[in-house]
Amino acid sequence: MIRLIPQPLSVTENTGAFVKASDFTVTRKTLSVKQCDESYSLYIKADGITICASSEKGFFYAEKTLEQIISFYGDLIPVCTINDSPRFEYRGFMIDCARHMFSVDELKKMIDVAASLKFNRFHWHLADDQGFRIELKCYPELTRLGSVRAGDRFGKNLQSDKPYGGFYTQKEISEIVDFCRKRFIDVIPELDVPGHSSALLHVFPELGCGGKNVSVKMSNGIFKDVLCVGEEKTETVIRNIVSELCELFPGEYFHIGGDEVPRDNWKNCPKCRSLAESAGIHDLDGLQQLFINSVAAFLQEKGKTVIGWNECLKGGKLNGGMVIERWLDPKGLAVKAANNGRKIIAAPLKPYYADYPYAIYSLKEVYLYEPTDIKGLTESGKENVIGTESPIWTEFINSCASLEAHCFPRWFAVAESAWSIPENKSYREFASASVKLCEALHSRGINCTLPSGWNPTGLKSLCESAAFLSNFSTTGK
Ligand code: ACM
Ligand code: ZN
Repeated sequence: MIRLIPQPLSVTENTGAFVKASDFTVTRKTLSVKQCDESYSLYIKADGITICASSEKGFFYAEKTLEQIISFYGDLIPVCTINDSPRFEYRGFMIDCARHMFSVDELKKMIDVAASLKFNRFHWHLADDQGFRIELKCYPELTRLGSVRAGDRFGKNLQSDKPYGGFYTQKEISEIVDFCRKRFIDVIPELDVPGHSSALLHVFPELGCGGKNVSVKMSNGIFKDVLCVGEEKTETVIRNIVSELCELFPGEYFHIGGDEVPRDNWKNCPKCRSLAESAGIHDLDGLQQLFINSVAAFLQEKGKTVIGWNECLKGGKLNGGMVIERWLDPKGLAVKAANNGRKIIAAPLKPYYADYPYAIYSLKEVYLYEPTDIKGLTESGKENVIGTESPIWTEFINSCASLEAHCFPRWFAVAESAWSIPENKSYREFASASVKLCEALHSRGINCTLPSGWNPTGLKSLCESAAFLSNFSTTGK
């Protein structure tokens, strides 16, 4: 039986018949029938290999499928017909390059594998408390000073007094955007505001309530240094930054963060209080909402579809059209929003946060997660789940080898939930195909986790979980 990752919609085999792939050049047929532009058909027959699609995207996915078949079978590939189409339009992966950076070549390696798994959105987390990693022409000092922290204090194991710094030049960013475009991946930059802004405040202390000095953070955690929403210059600076980012990232989406915002400083800030008063706002959620809506509206006017983490729903009056990325939703705001028509992306911390060890979120658990199976989500709410995303946060991940081991094969599982219909899923079949895919990727120098590490149990696993969770013991997340 032909079992691929992600499993195609339909596979019809002529059991026992094989052809030599190298005997043929692949024939392309462009279909004029309007269908989903990511759909394709692949015919492997005794007299040749043909791919049919109505767009370049479809041809691309057909080629990826054929490449995987060849990597599993070698030159002698099974005669078959595959008709394929994705389940979700949004199939995302996120890499945090703020806490630790990865080189352009390392990112390309990750993106290349993601493209072969038919992901189509790269959410690039580029700025956070621990570093601002974008070359900006409008604020060169933000890049120069905001990209460096004095050392590392991440959990127990990543401790250093050596300054850590780096950023992506505009040329490098364009190189990544172009690399992704050729693989039909839209790059989504994230500028996380108004929280997670220490690096920004280090350079522009006047954008914080009270204007005190702020350091680029060396540790994991949630910090009270957030943007002052009552300060006029805050809006100007953010608008200038996002305007330049829109030039660099021409894709459909822009992510403005909005998560984990301690509002303690807003309470006693004359500027924040005065803004609240003039806008007739009586609570902190309302202030946060006002700020998010203003940044989002600016981007929406530029034609962007704006994404924010689910905290953006606080206040209850989020701009229409904004998409919500649901990661932790204790009050069910994202569920309610989806039930009322808002588009959401399922990116649940449990089990899609790929920075957790397999001892906590095993491969099987990641695979069995069903993106629309959310408590309280109605049938019409399910229709508003546009897809899934698996983020990898990198406070504790400072090498590409570790990045790859955390993501692969986990992202195989996420890719399958994003592309394949539930009826075509089976963990047993997926796991055996994953063995083959890991072998194929190992031979390309990708450090996939070995099968023995996919679903750990017992004492070793308990110790690994405890060691990881102890990283949060002082700071929380
Ligand atoms: C998040 O993990 N703070 C989105
Ligand atoms: Zn303020």
